[in-house]
Amino acid sequence: MKLKHALFTAVAFLAAGSVSQARSVASYRTIPLPHSITLTPEVSPFILGADVEIDAPESLANEARFMREYIPAGLKGKSSGKITLRSDLVDINPEAYMITLGPDGVTVNGASPAGTFYGVQTLRKSMPAELDADCQVELPAGQIIDRPRFAYRGTHFDVSRHFFTLDEVKTFIDMIALHGINTFHWHLTDDQGWRIEIKKYPRLTEVGSYRPNSIIGRTGPGYDNTPVSGFYTQDEAREIVKYAADRHIQVIPEIDLPGHMMAAMASYPELGCTGGPYEVWRAWGVNDGVLCPGKDGTMQFIADVLNEVMDIFPAPYIHIGGDECPKVLWTKCPHCQARIKELGLVEKNGVSPESQLQGYVTSFACNVVREHGKSAIGWDEILECEIPQDAIIMSWRGVEGATEGTKRGHRAILTPTSHCYFDFYQTKDTANEPYAIGGLTTVERVYSLEPCLPTMTSEEKALVMGCQANLWTEYIPTFSHVQYMELPRLAALSEVQWLDPDKKNFEDFKTRIPAIMAMYDKMGYNYAKHIADVDVRYDVDSDRGALVMTCSALPGYDIRYTLDGTNPTAESTLYTEPVAIDKDCVIKTTTFNKGIEGHPVCDTLAVGLLTFAKCTLAVEPDAGYAFNGAQQLVDGLSGSCNYRTGRWLGFSGRNCDATIELSQPKTLSEVSFNVDVFSCDGLVDCRGVEVYAQTPGSDKFELLASEEYPEMDRSKEFDVVNHVVKFKPTEVKKLRVVIKPQWVLPEWHLLTGCLGFLFVDEISAK
Ligand code: ACM
Ligand code: ZN
Repeated sequence: MKLKHALFTAVAFLAAGSVSQARSVASYRTIPLPHSITLTPEVSPFILGADVEIDAPESLANEARFMREYIPAGLKGKSSGKITLRSDLVDINPEAYMITLGPDGVTVNGASPAGTFYGVQTLRKSMPAELDADCQVELPAGQIIDRPRFAYRGTHFDVSRHFFTLDEVKTFIDMIALHGINTFHWHLTDDQGWRIEIKKYPRLTEVGSYRPNSIIGRTGPGYDNTPVSGFYTQDEAREIVKYAADRHIQVIPEIDLPGHMMAAMASYPELGCTGGPYEVWRAWGVNDGVLCPGKDGTMQFIADVLNEVMDIFPAPYIHIGGDECPKVLWTKCPHCQARIKELGLVEKNGVSPESQLQGYVTSFACNVVREHGKSAIGWDEILECEIPQDAIIMSWRGVEGATEGTKRGHRAILTPTSHCYFDFYQTKDTANEPYAIGGLTTVERVYSLEPCLPTMTSEEKALVMGCQANLWTEYIPTFSHVQYMELPRLAALSEVQWLDPDKKNFEDFKTRIPAIMAMYDKMGYNYAKHIADVDVRYDVDSDRGALVMTCSALPGYDIRYTLDGTNPTAESTLYTEPVAIDKDCVIKTTTFNKGIEGHPVCDTLAVGLLTFAKCTLAVEPDAGYAFNGAQQLVDGLSGSCNYRTGRWLGFSGRNCDATIELSQPKTLSEVSFNVDVFSCDGLVDCRGVEVYAQTPGSDKFELLASEEYPEMDRSKEFDVVNHVVKFKPTEVKKLRVVIKPQWVLPEWHLLTGCLGFLFVDEISAK
């Protein structure tokens, strides 16, 4: 679908002498939305023509070059004045800027060249992405004042799992520059590939940058036939640093340690506890093979690599990883055990000596980084033991890392999986998407992130540096796919990074999305278009015995739907108000915008004996997984294997205890329900169920059947498990189904000892 017709740019035809000249009117309501826009309609606009002069001091030659590049090609006629760039705005925020517009000229004044650059970006996005021939651009008179909310506005890009060329990395930087993002977190090393030249350890790239194939899907079976290789020389990395700096973006390299080091250990087996041999890993997940901090050579390696890296990257931060480091080999390794003894590490407050050994590695790396006047950033696992005060916490396993980190006085950056993982699916309709790692991070979900958590004190909030999105590329082999995963979610992220919370408004954001999508088209970026599809919501109306469908779409879009499984056409029923549906059907909804058709959104309704009955829960689901509440268990819509789609209710540390009140008594002999298993995220199968019934004339529940299930074994990684409980035919007016979780994750699980998650959907009966 092309969205160019959806631009909200007014086009005026003005008589200029005897020649009629078309004018497109700029809109300053860009993404991110400037802090304040004041228009003065009584003053004539600035007219932009191809001849426009750009007046800038030498110190802003870089910004002037971009401004020149952004003047749309094909403009006709004379400008009414010039564009002046300055960087002497007085503002406590060094990235602030002000744009003043009038008939004689446009002045972009930043509090620094970075501020000027952001002003130039806003002007660029204000202008229509596509112009008709012989057009001029009219910039309404007024003033724009803007400054970002957070100083750290990041995006992460994993180039280890798949390699991306220098030109692709540059395009990635262009994409983030378009969104006012100022930090490029470059994930350069991991188990599956080492991608940065280290002169002292040449085998890191000679050996560690190549793998002959990769496991198919998440866990196979089998491997593909596609080698993955490539790395950046130090000169090339410096070229990226310069390219980014021209766009006011700092590059933060990540050397992920002490876990995620299989590529390094394949190159230098002596770095591991067992001495190998090791291979550049060809599978995904978390590998038990990690660096051996018991060996002096390993610690020297860490220092040497960080020292060379810091020589390339001038940013004040270096990312030292720290995530997902299993300790199983350390418990058996004589070197690690000797180190533990030497350091006098003993179990303290439930923290094992091996976990403290990771703290030793973190502190060591932080010290190396500090010697260069920089600070280390680490994934939130580094909080599991004592670490230096200047370590910055990157909170990814939720927001808890930020909560705890700031409580302990650390600076924090939020990248929670719940909102910031752009390798997750972006639509519930996962069947029609390229394969992804799982999850669900819609544009709206990204937009809803508030990095300063309500539970934080004002001192703790002040330690929040900002937020970023992460793009892990296990299942993202091409750059076109990278763009698809990033855009337009980056647009939502940029408003979280720039706007004050009281200015954020998703409905308003949606009205500005078509313009940035037109810009993506102009730049040739591949991007996801789900935001232009129908947003469908379903609610159970038990009194009517129906499912009520409520639809919305971007302004200006018509919604058409069918209930027979066919794709809607421009002649299908127009959606005008909520629709009640009470029969089995396949529901499809599609947007239509000036003849351009969106992607159909599809849902299957299966009506059974319990569907649309009144359902209540004795204990509510976890707040993050409560979605539409109890009624969802009997809405006739079944969840797929993705637990974040809103179809599943999630429970931890509690039963799913549902009471279902039938509209009239029915004879039942079987109850079934689904459990979603997604083992790596702690979602495991249930351990039992009890089914009770109230029969007509009684208000007491009697046990109809109960079952116990064995502990799930580790081979089942993800699945929708259907449980069926049979009992003698009974006339039932109320049913109570108690589904019992695996309280604590089994011993084989990486998170053993933590509460298991129980995800339940559709309870049905026969
Ligand atoms: C991570 O996603 N392993 C930081
Ligand atoms: Zn060891």
